[in-house]
Amino acid sequence: MFLIGVDLGGTQIRIGLFTEEGELLDRKATLTKAEEGPTKVVERIKSLIHEISLPVIVKNGKESIGGIGIGCPGPLDVFEGIIMSPPNLPGWNRIPLKKLLEEEFQLSVYLNNDANAAVLGEYFFGSGKGKSNLVYLTLSTGVGTGIIDNGQLLLGQNGSSAEVGHMSLNPEGPLCGCGNRGCFEAFVSGTGIVRRAKALLEQDLESASALHECEELTTKLIFDAAKKKDRLALEIVEETRMYLGVALVNVIHLYNPSMIILGGGVSKVGAFLLEPAIQFAKERAMKLMADSLEFQLTQLGDDVGLIGAASLVKYHHQA
Ligand code: BGC
Ligand code: NA
Ligand code: ZN
Repeated sequence: MFLIGVDLGGTQIRIGLFTEEGELLDRKATLTKAEEGPTKVVERIKSLIHEISLPVIVKNGKESIGGIGIGCPGPLDVFEGIIMSPPNLPGWNRIPLKKLLEEEFQLSVYLNNDANAAVLGEYFFGSGKGKSNLVYLTLSTGVGTGIIDNGQLLLGQNGSSAEVGHMSLNPEGPLCGCGNRGCFEAFVSGTGIVRRAKALLEQDLESASALHECEELTTKLIFDAAKKKDRLALEIVEETRMYLGVALVNVIHLYNPSMIILGGGVSKVGAFLLEPAIQFAKERAMKLMADSLEFQLTQLGDDVGLIGAASLVKYHHQA
């Protein structure tokens, strides 16, 4: 069986053709440009899926393709296959992507949350192989999780379970893309970190921070400055560590996983951010749960979302 995966992100769309064993056979990519509107973007997705699947269909027949899996930022109605209004795809509202692609390809289409897809990628092909209680946590433009509970993907009523990025950590905290204040994502996502640093810089009247010199602020610049003991940058990093640690304690207590896998652009900063947060979580969480828990960085790199999307097909065939 061949698997087609579509990683539909705010900036990029990646499309991959995989074997059932997770070997990548071919890939395509395009910029999302969500502002062009869903119709145009969906047309581009369709033509790339046609391109990638044609050789397989010619050689092995259409029945050899198990389906198309799509990972996408939430909120989504997973069971209806509808993209609701994700802050990361501005202007998109109730797009019935599953129906649109099923009509075009006469193949089964599985739409799911990007982090839900990623945890399946880890479960089948990554560090989480064979782990029945698994959390994947992505720290990127947004913050999201996918949860495997007793071998099953945790979904909830609309398939929108595990929106851990919008766990409310501080009711008076900074505004989040979801409309609430003080979400985990508002503190620890790439956008959240930069936004908080900018707000502090505006109050930094004596221009004490080297970050004033940066033309375009990024998380990397902020972390680099903190490593050089820039006071303002350190303040941001310390707050980020603290909120990450607090959120990890909550995640441990909610899901009692045997492994938490961290991924996403912000996680690439590595031990400087992650170690103190993990330490905090291990100290503060209940001993029973903390002692039997392992932390890992994703081994699937930037393709975790893509292989995850393809894994949706494998998961649904196995069920
Ligand atoms: C969305 C999640 C998504 C995460 C990572 C969040 O803003 O609410 O659905 O998993 O970003 O893309
Ligand atoms: Na999720
Ligand atoms: Zn939020």
